Amino acid sequence: MKACMECHPDKAEATVHVKKGVHCESCHGAAKAHTEDWEKAKPFVPSTRADCTRCHAMIVSRPAWYPQIDPKTHNPDSKCVHCHSIHELPAVKK
Ligand code: HEC
Ligand code: HEC
Ligand code: HEC
Ligand code: HEC
Repeated sequence: MKACMECHPDKAEATVHVKKGVHCESCHGAAKAHTEDWEKAKPFVPSTRADCTRCHAMIVSRPAWYPQIDPKTHNPDSKCVHCHSIHELPAVKK
């Protein structure tokens, strides 16, 4: 995380995830090669619903306080990032 912040300090500021301890690489994948040569090794950028539901799909074993949705009923026709902004405020786009 520290390695990422040197070059991307702006990416953590409005990011609920980072404040709650979700590491950049939990979403962007292993990115060590990118820190050594940022031009050649571009990290993964999440965009599909599956990229988000792997952590947020409703599962009974997840604690009740943990934010989770039913992917079948929660705005099933759009990508999560169409409405939810990860790195900018407001967190839910107007
Ligand atoms: C030495 C500086 C440097 C470090 C360290 C660094 N990055 Fe980057 N990164 C860049 C530059 C420069 C770009 C290209 C410009 C941009 O998109 O901001 C970039 C682009 C990206 C992108 C966009 C890729 C795309 O296809 O658009 C992601 C995601 C990313 N970095 C994540 C990370 C993560 C996660 C880390 C820590 C593991 C990290 N970066 C560490 C410099 C760095
Ligand atoms: C919860 C998942 C998540 C976490 C954690 C996360 N990101 Fe991202 N990041 C995204 C998504 C999704 C995008 C695509 C743009 C958007 O929707 O905001 C993105 C975009 C970016 C981009 C620009 C690439 C582009 O094409 O827009 C960079 C650079 C980046 N993230 C770096 C980081 C760094 C550095 C951290 C840790 C401080 C981090 N991210 C943590 C999900 C995440
Ligand atoms: C690696 C697991 C992980 C991934 C992947 C992930 N999240 Fe999260 N998300 C979390 C955690 C952990 C929290 C914070 C829970 C808490 O402590 O409240 C959170 C919080 C949230 C919240 C509620 C907080 C807020 O912003 O208001 C939303 C909405 C959210 N995530 C959307 C997304 C979206 C959209 C994606 C896909 C781009 C995504 N998440 C990807 C783990 C993840
Ligand atoms: C059409 C817009 C839209 C789409 C698409 C969308 N959401 Fe949401 N989502 C919302 C709104 C609006 C809320 C309620 C916002 C609030 O908390 O104020 C919300 C709330 C949430 C919450 C918080 C639930 C809680 O317990 O507080 C999570 C987590 C979440 N969405 C995840 C996702 C994920 C993951 C996807 C993709 C599979 C997704 N959303 C797609 C608009 C959307």
